[in-house]
Amino acid sequence: MNKVTQGPQTSFYPLPVLVIGAMVDGKPNFMTAVYGGLANGKPPMLTVGIVRSRYTWGAIKVGASFSVNIPSAAQAQKVDFCGVESGSKTDKVARCGFKVFYGDLETAPMVEECPVNLECVATHIIDFDMHSLVVADIKQTHVSEDCLTDGALDPMKVDPLVFLTAPARKYVRIGGVVGDAFKIGKELP
Ligand SMILES: Cc1cc2nc3c(=O)[nH]c(=O)nc-3n(C[C@H](O)[C@H](O)[C@H](O)COP(=O)(O)O)c2cc1C
Repeated sequence: MNKVTQGPQTSFYPLPVLVIGAMVDGKPNFMTAVYGGLANGKPPMLTVGIVRSRYTWGAIKVGASFSVNIPSAAQAQKVDFCGVESGSKTDKVARCGFKVFYGDLETAPMVEECPVNLECVATHIIDFDMHSLVVADIKQTHVSEDCLTDGALDPMKVDPLVFLTAPARKYVRIGGVVGDAFKIGKELP
C-alpha cells in the first residue's frame, strides 16, 4: 500500500472526551480536555494535558485534587461549551445547569449528569511547550446507577462521547462490538 507522509502530527484516533473539574478561585469550574489517557493500572493513574493559559490551570499543582468526568454523547453541546468558554469570564456551572457534587476528597467538584466521575490527586507535572502533562492518582470512582449491569460499569450504557481530532474535529460515539479482547487473537488461524 502506498503511504503519503504528513509530517509530525497529532494523528491519534480516537480520543476520549474528558471534563476536568476543579475549584478555581473558590468556585467549581469545568473544562473540556481530550489530551488524556491512562498511566498506570495498580494503583490506577491517569494523565491529562492542560495548556497553562487555561483558567483551570490555576488550580493544578502536585497534591491538588481535581475530577475527571466522562460525559455521554447526549451531553456533547454542554461539553463543547466547557471547551470554548473560560471560567475566567463565564460561570459554566450556571450556564450548563450542572448539578455539582463532591466525594471523598471534598474538594474535587464533579458533574452529576456525567455517568462516570473520577476523583484525582495530581502526583507529577511535566511541562512541555504548550501543554503540561498532569499525572494523577485516581482516588475514587463514581458511576451513575443506570450505567451498571449486574453491579459493574457497562460502557455501552455510558455511551461515552468520543473525539476525532484534526482534520475531522468531530464528536462521535462508540459504534459496535468488534470482538472479545484477549480472546480473538488466540483464535487466529
Ligand atoms: C474538544 C475539545 C478538546 C479540548 N482539549 C483540551 C485539552 O486537552 N487541554 C487543554 O488545555 N484544553 C483543551 N481544550 C480547550 C479548553 O477546554 C478551553 O480552552 C476552555 O475554555 C478552558 O476552560 P477554562 O479557561 O475555564 O479552564 C479543548 C476544547 C475542546 C472543545
